[in-house]
Amino acid sequence: MESRCAIIATVHVVQTVAAAIALARNGAERRILVPTMGALHRGHLELIRIARTAAGKEGEVAVSIFVNPLQFAAGGDFEKYPRPETGDEELCRGAGVDILFRPSADEMYTNDFSVAVEENSLSSTLEGKSRPGHFRGVCTVVAKLFHVLAPDAAVFGEKDFQQLAIIRRMVRDLNFRIEIIGAPTVRETDGLACSSRNQYLSPTERQQAPVLRAALLEAARLAGGGERSAAAIIDAARKIINGSPLARIDYLELVNAETLAPIEALEENSLIAVAAFFGQTRLIDNIRL
Ligand code: PAJ
Repeated sequence: MESRCAIIATVHVVQTVAAAIALARNGAERRILVPTMGALHRGHLELIRIARTAAGKEGEVAVSIFVNPLQFAAGGDFEKYPRPETGDEELCRGAGVDILFRPSADEMYTNDFSVAVEENSLSSTLEGKSRPGHFRGVCTVVAKLFHVLAPDAAVFGEKDFQQLAIIRRMVRDLNFRIEIIGAPTVRETDGLACSSRNQYLSPTERQQAPVLRAALLEAARLAGGGERSAAAIIDAARKIINGSPLARIDYLELVNAETLAPIEALEENSLIAVAAFFGQTRLIDNIRL
């Protein structure tokens, strides 16, 4: 086991479930987990910063990097998903991460793996509708990470708003004794939400991608001005996205931020969410209204 658990500066890099469970047993005062798929960017680093604060001096921050095959569709970008291992490790070290859990797929899933976690209400719209089985993969791997690393709290980004809501629901319904902390979306200076997938974009796609943010801001402007009709708000946002020739909308929907069900008129707690392709690259973003 020793040879598979290298100590680099102050980051314990752990590659096996057994080693991670052994670490969990040593338990610092408080452990905060940031689950990721790697290719770390400023969004992930903000989650780590929030985790560091939540952990306090005596606590520890664990980051997991695992490109989870279970949440990718066949023919999706699982194979080409960026895996800059050395760079990610450096970023973790610089951010004061204590434990970096980086298992292989074989470590996480045995050949006869046959149990999964499924959320059946919040998953039926938006990403869940466009990517069948995606949240089953997310819930299953996050449940496993929770068991293996036994954190007191875990940090998830609002950029993946539906994922955050579903993880909260899973924790509630399956009685995980883990606090879920939401973190605001970190953006590039032109408004594009930071994402590991942004690096797939060609220069012209990258130039046009901030149109998603512009469309959401226009929706917020209309809502702020008293517009209540979902159709009118969505229409205005769609026009902005369609002004970009390289954008192809997958969905653009106004939903209740709690149930994630589509709404016809703006409510107290509304969210507008978008998914759009730029070439092969699928980007998502959302904003509370
Ligand atoms: P990944 O896409 O790597 O994202 C890891 C975490 O970083 C998620 O909680 C996500 O919401 C957050 N994040 C991504 N971009 C962000 C941004 N621009 N601002 C703030 N937070 C951001 O989400 C996953 O991985 C996976 O589904 C995972 C939860 C790890 C399960 O496999």
